[in-house]
Amino acid sequence: MSFSKVLYSATQINDVVQELANQINMKYADVTFQNPLVLICILKGSFIFFSDITRKINIPQIHEFMTVSSYINDRSTGKINILADITIDIKGKDVLIIEDIFDTGVTLDCLLKELEKRNPKSLECCVLLSKPTMVKVPIKPAFVGIELNPPEFVIGYGLDYNQLFRNLPFIAVPTNETIKLFKRYT
Ligand code: XMP
Ligand code: MG
Repeated sequence: MSFSKVLYSATQINDVVQELANQINMKYADVTFQNPLVLICILKGSFIFFSDITRKINIPQIHEFMTVSSYINDRSTGKINILADITIDIKGKDVLIIEDIFDTGVTLDCLLKELEKRNPKSLECCVLLSKPTMVKVPIKPAFVGIELNPPEFVIGYGLDYNQLFRNLPFIAVPTNETIKLFKRYT
């Protein structure tokens, strides 16, 4: 039984990730080992994308991890809940957030505001996927891999449906049957 319809194969994803890494390598070409680029992985969804792209980024870098949840029903106040924070002071550092998907943009908007308060030298974001027709905030990630149009709900390559299917090596749309079958799973 097939749980999903493939949208982007592992090979296609690899090409997109390489292209994003090329852009990042150009943009941060001046970064040194004395003040390396801080790459922040937003857990859980970005862990596979992060592990792939960091191995294609060939400039001095350190890795940090963060778990956040945004208050979707409280977006006017732009609050974010940091469940696990990074472990270093980013003041004066070049910081690049690596995120799986930019949907309404609320999560990233809140996160950028929070990290901006810590006075990094620069702060940008790289997302593998974006749903441009869904965006509700006035920001745009500096690096965008794939624009999903129409903005379908996707799974695989780190993205989940009720925590399942992160392990799929491709990006896919779950079938209606899959959505029904795993609806009650928490
Ligand atoms: P916002 O709306 O704040 O949402 O940009 C970003 C977060 O929502 C999750 N998200 C998805 N997760 N398939 C998923 O598995 C999707 O199609 C999808 N769209 C949004 C994701 O956690 C992301 O960080
Ligand atoms: Mg996420």
